[in-house]
Amino acid sequence: MASKLIAPSILAADFGNLQRDVEMVNSSEADWFHIDIMDGVFVPNISFGMPVLKAIAEHASKTIDVHLMIVDPDRYIKTFADLGSNNLTVHFEACTHLHRTVQAIKNEGMKAGVALNPHTNINGLEDIITDLDLVCLMSVNPGFGGQSFIENTYQKIEALKELIDKKNAATLIEIDGGVNDRNAKKLVDAGADVLVAGSFVFKSEDQAATISNLKSIVNT
Ligand code: DX5
Ligand code: ZN
Repeated sequence: MASKLIAPSILAADFGNLQRDVEMVNSSEADWFHIDIMDGVFVPNISFGMPVLKAIAEHASKTIDVHLMIVDPDRYIKTFADLGSNNLTVHFEACTHLHRTVQAIKNEGMKAGVALNPHTNINGLEDIITDLDLVCLMSVNPGFGGQSFIENTYQKIEALKELIDKKNAATLIEIDGGVNDRNAKKLVDAGADVLVAGSFVFKSEDQAATISNLKSIVNT
């Protein structure tokens, strides 16, 4: 079975020591950098924008997984490609013409992801799942780090996994929000492929050891 991936969320990093934290992720067992972009409209918070992503990308040596929590993401697809994003995930709830948006992301050479809010049913993906490289299931309401994990996520993962298998799709399932060493194993057992972890990694004493521990939990 393909190895399960860990994606530390830079939202929880120390922005005064951003290069140090990026280099910690580079030299750790983490697989991806998860980058949260919030516009204060789609979600009730503003994170950081293009200049900060540019600085991260200059030092990052692993896949850059960008999660856009913004309205009208089509306006910025090319910008995020030019900044070095490898994966670009847009919100299902923010896209009127999701199929067009997904094709535009792929045309810029990036992997295309779609994120679902906790209340959004996976059935809406039935006619697009084979076009998606990644589905990000939000296991908290997007907008902030450090929130509690929503337990209903497990059954969503199972239903999504069933849809992916039924359609013979190669889509990865990513879980974002409230991930820690107590729910990680259960998430991958339900069918998750990528776990995002912000606070659990960056608020820990030994961040590289926390990543290493998560990586071994999900791959045993
Ligand atoms: C929430 C973001 C998450 C967040 C996760 O809106 O999409 O990526 O950084 O943080 P934790 O792991 O602290 O819940
Ligand atoms: Zn995120």
